[in-house]
Amino acid sequence: MASDKESSRISGFYKMPVEKRVSITSEKAGLTDEEAELLGSGGGLGLEEADRMIENVVGTIAYPLGIAANFRINGRDRLIPMAIEEPSVVAAASNMARLMREGEGIKTSGTDSVMIGQIQVLDVPNIDAALKSLTEEKTRLLEHANQQDPVLVRVGGGARDLQLRVIDSEVGKMLIIHLLVDCQDIMGANAVNTMCEAMAPTVEGLTGGRVLLRIISNLADERLVRAEAVIRKEAIGGEKAIDDIIAAWAFADADPYRASTHNKGIMNGVIAVALATAQDHRALEAGAHAYAARTGRYRSLSRWSKNEDGNLVGTVEMPMAVGTVGGTTKTHPIARLALKVLGVSRARELAEVMVAVGLAQNLGALRALTQEGIQHGHMRLHARNLVVMAGAEGDLISKALEALIESGEIRFDKAQEIVKRLKG
Ligand code: MEV
Repeated sequence: MASDKESSRISGFYKMPVEKRVSITSEKAGLTDEEAELLGSGGGLGLEEADRMIENVVGTIAYPLGIAANFRINGRDRLIPMAIEEPSVVAAASNMARLMREGEGIKTSGTDSVMIGQIQVLDVPNIDAALKSLTEEKTRLLEHANQQDPVLVRVGGGARDLQLRVIDSEVGKMLIIHLLVDCQDIMGANAVNTMCEAMAPTVEGLTGGRVLLRIISNLADERLVRAEAVIRKEAIGGEKAIDDIIAAWAFADADPYRASTHNKGIMNGVIAVALATAQDHRALEAGAHAYAARTGRYRSLSRWSKNEDGNLVGTVEMPMAVGTVGGTTKTHPIARLALKVLGVSRARELAEVMVAVGLAQNLGALRALTQEGIQHGHMRLHARNLVVMAGAEGDLISKALEALIESGEIRFDKAQEIVKRLKG
């Protein structure tokens, strides 16, 4: 059982003022006073740091950073930092994590952190002979790749294997070499690209062809992560609710128009954590959607079914190219804090947390869509903003909010009327 300090179950977190949330998060994550102050300041990335990250900097842009509560992943409670501009996402993740935390909570697993680098070889005079030479020289090629990154090799990673492919294209046959690199805790783009570039002259010598592209693939299907959860039928609204969720999932799995929105909902969770921890979220999006289309048809990244006890079982599986070492993750002050709040140090651990959040997010969307509809949650947040704008403070906010929702007329004039009445 998680101790109170370790527990991610925080009842009424959403009702607390920001300062209280910051102090609870800081205490649970063991943040220093300085870190807690930085977290609560709403600041984070200074102009100088930003200027070192990209070109032509003129400012920074802030996103809301929320904490999703209630997550239990592989028996461990975690607070999840999420950076996102869209309302309801953090609330939905927290609510679904509450349903999923019973029993063993969310279970995750994953492959090693292997990325693929691609080397495109054109104008190969004899493809069979080229394949033979590359196979014979595989060990030397891998050694040469590993010489480019002794640090990665020292921590247990490095180039592992070569895969050779011949593909037909608009401009004829081409030989494609896949370099498989165990990236351990780095995302890997720099390391893999450097290795591919370094190998190019040897590849040209061995194949008699011309190397054109040398670049990482974002379809990181050797770096897969899976999350699974069982939700008791009583917790989710009974048999009919479960059947409806499965029917909603089946719609997505059968129809790309729906799958794209369904998978977007999963990515709401994945990318919010990616943003909070300064990951390359474009790489994650690209990988996820390419993986969703791997059968030749764009399908759902998740799967929902019923087990023999009639409970709901959900899984999400997707590529997860993330890093906890190097890059912006370590230089962005808030990303560093976010990793500390999450309590992860290894990339694979971060990847598994992100997919777990994606799974919870998917359930949140399917539950809302099959029951009250997606606008209900949004209207609640809208109503809350209206009562605050109408002058409600402290305890009055939740009383006025309930009264406004009860009235069924979510408008500013109605909020003003209610706040005035409650203030008496
Ligand atoms: C909105 O950001 C995400 C949803 O559209 C996802 C879905 O439809 O499954 C609600």
